[in-house]
Amino acid sequence: MNRPTILLNPGPVTLSNRVRHALARADQCHREPDFARFMLEITDALSRVYPGSRKRFEPVVLTGSGTCAVEAMLSSLVPRDGLTLVVSNGVYGERMADMIRNHGKPMEQIRCDWLQPMDLVAVEKRLAAGDITHVVAVHNETTTGRLNDIAALGKLCRKYDAALLLDAVSSFGAESIDFSGWNLQALAATANKCLHGVPGIAFVLVDQDVMDGGSSYSSTLYLDLYRYHREQKTGFSPFTPAVHACFALHEALLELEEMGGREARQQRYRYLSGRIRQALIALGIRPLLPEESCCSMISSFLLPKDISYPQLHGLLLEAGFVIYAGQGELAKSIFRIANMGDIQDQDLEHLIATFRQLMER
Ligand SMILES: Cc1ncc(COP(=O)(O)O)c(C=O)c1O
Repeated sequence: MNRPTILLNPGPVTLSNRVRHALARADQCHREPDFARFMLEITDALSRVYPGSRKRFEPVVLTGSGTCAVEAMLSSLVPRDGLTLVVSNGVYGERMADMIRNHGKPMEQIRCDWLQPMDLVAVEKRLAAGDITHVVAVHNETTTGRLNDIAALGKLCRKYDAALLLDAVSSFGAESIDFSGWNLQALAATANKCLHGVPGIAFVLVDQDVMDGGSSYSSTLYLDLYRYHREQKTGFSPFTPAVHACFALHEALLELEEMGGREARQQRYRYLSGRIRQALIALGIRPLLPEESCCSMISSFLLPKDISYPQLHGLLLEAGFVIYAGQGELAKSIFRIANMGDIQDQDLEHLIATFRQLMER
C-alpha cells in the first residue's frame, strides 16, 4: 500500500494504523459508566508516561488543542494575589504572556532573544527580590526547536520558592521531565504531538495538593481546571469530551507503552532528527541552532539560498511530505522539520533522497 502524505509539521502527526482504526470504534455516550471507566484508564495511562509524576501529579483531561490546556493551566493557577514571571524565547512563551495579560493578572516578563537560551542570570536577579510567586516557561520552544534548560530554571524556582508552570505541549511523551526537582506545580500538554494521538484532547498534569486544597483563579467556566478535576474523580467530564479523540489517545498510549515508553520514543526521535540534521548539513543546509540546544522532535534550518519557503514546501509536498514554515520574525528565513508520528525508516530515506535531488538541481 502506498504511504499517505507524511506530516513533518509539529502536530498533528501521521497516525499509526492502530490509532487510526481506534477512531472507528463503536460510538459511546460520555455519560455511561463504561465510558467513565475508559476515561479513568486514560488518566492512569497518562500518569504512567512519567512514573515520577504518579506520586504527586494528576492529569486533568480537557477537550481542545494544546493552547486550551495551557490557558486552562494559567487561568486556574496564576494568582491574582501573587506575581508571575514569564520567561520567553519564542512564540509560545509570548503567547502565555499574552494570556496572563488578557486575564488581567499581575505579571512581568523576561523576554529573551529567540535564538538564545533563556537568560537565567536575569531570571535569578529578578527572583532574588523575593516577590515572584510563580514562574511560567516553555519546555521545548517549538518556534526554534530549542529544548530550554528547565532543570536550571527549576533549580532557581526551588531556591526562591516560586511555583513553576510549564508549557510541555511539544515535549511531553518524549523529553525527560523531573517531577520532583523542578518545583513544578503543573504542566500543560496535548494528545497529538509526542503521544501520537489526534487533535481534540489536551491535559494538564497538576499537583494534587493544589487541586484538593486550593481554589481556582479562573474567571472562565470552561477553562476552570478545578471543575474538571472534581468530576473527573469518577471518570466523568463536566462537558462533552471529544469521545473519538479519547479512543485514539487510549490506543496511542498503549502503543507507546508497547514500544518501550517515553525513553524509547525519545531515542527514536533523536535518531530521526539526528539523521535529518546530518543529511541536510551534508547538503549545505545550515541548522538554526547548535546540536546541543536542540530538542528531539523538531529541527529548524535556514532556507537555502535562492529558494523561498513556498517553493520548498511545494516541492516537498509533491514528493509526499508536509514541512513547516518559521513563525513570527523567523517566517521568511527558516523552515522546520518535525519527526513525530508514524515515520518509518523508508520515509526518512525518501525524505533525504528528495532533499538531495532538490539541492542537486
Ligand atoms: C510549545 C507549544 N505550546 C503550545 C502550542 C499550541 O498547541 P495547539 O496548536 O495544539 O493549540 C504548540 C503548538 O505547536 C507548541 O508547540
